[in-house]
Amino acid sequence: MENNSILTLNISQEGVALVQLHRPEARNALNLELRQKLSETFQQLSQDSTVRAIVITGGEKVFAAGADIKDFTTATTSQMYLRHTEQYWQSITDCPKPIIAAVNGYALGGGCELAMHADIIIAGESAQFGQPEVKLGLMPGAGGTQRLLRAIGKYQTMLWVLTGKLVKAAEAERMGLVSEVVADENTIAHAIKIAQTIASFSPIAVQQIKEVTNLGQDQSLQGALALERKAFQILFDTKDQKEGVNAFFEKRPAQYIGE
Ligand code: CAA
Repeated sequence: MENNSILTLNISQEGVALVQLHRPEARNALNLELRQKLSETFQQLSQDSTVRAIVITGGEKVFAAGADIKDFTTATTSQMYLRHTEQYWQSITDCPKPIIAAVNGYALGGGCELAMHADIIIAGESAQFGQPEVKLGLMPGAGGTQRLLRAIGKYQTMLWVLTGKLVKAAEAERMGLVSEVVADENTIAHAIKIAQTIASFSPIAVQQIKEVTNLGQDQSLQGALALERKAFQILFDTKDQKEGVNAFFEKRPAQYIGE
């Protein structure tokens, strides 16, 4: 377990990592320090073979309020370019383990974009999502236009990003951004339960499923189906695949070893 003031990390015995943002005075706004911590944490979790699934969460009232706007008051184009914040996001994108966002309260701008870096989004019923950058004379810059487009389609995305409207959890679920809505007090527990279920399966199968699903959505259907077929075939070379099938016929729980 490693803790520091703006981000905490706890890893359970079942292999579930809980990452929690903690910058309440700035509504978990993603300043450079928090971005760096997030990036280092995801690199660490990617490499830790005991970690099978990751839950990322924020506070009770705010998941994350987006980029730290204080950083924007005097920033110039070249300064923004030289920050290369894409490298921090990339550590999350590159993480091969399933990521579940447990969202309570506001997930705005970069906060909504952070949730969209997850593979599953569990929202408390009071959660609100939005890309309000347009209100600041800006636009989403960490995947907001593109990830939202792929999740909810052009016409909802345009409404969100051009008006900066906030969307409640139930509506976001109907649109396909949120996987499940639960009572606010159950958000983290429910996300952890899903993570525990995933952690009980073969990590190789789980990671192949994540990789193929994410890569496939930007390929042609034919290319994506070939990718899926090859990944399916590769799994037949794993001990876990034989264990899974044998355990089914022996009517016992499978013991996956990640090989
Ligand atoms: N950056 C920096 N500070 C922020 C912040 C942000 N994104 N959001 C809130 N804060 C600060 C406020 O300035 C305030 O500080 P002080 O106490 O020093 O005045 C403190 O947090 C509390 O804020 P509020 O009083 O506004 O808190 P609230 O609970 O009433 O409202 C909120 C919460 C709805 C999240 C509101 O703070 C808000 O709308 N924040 C801005 C959201 C936003 O515009 N996000 C987009 C940022 S741009 C971006 O994200 C670009 C990108 O990804 C590339």
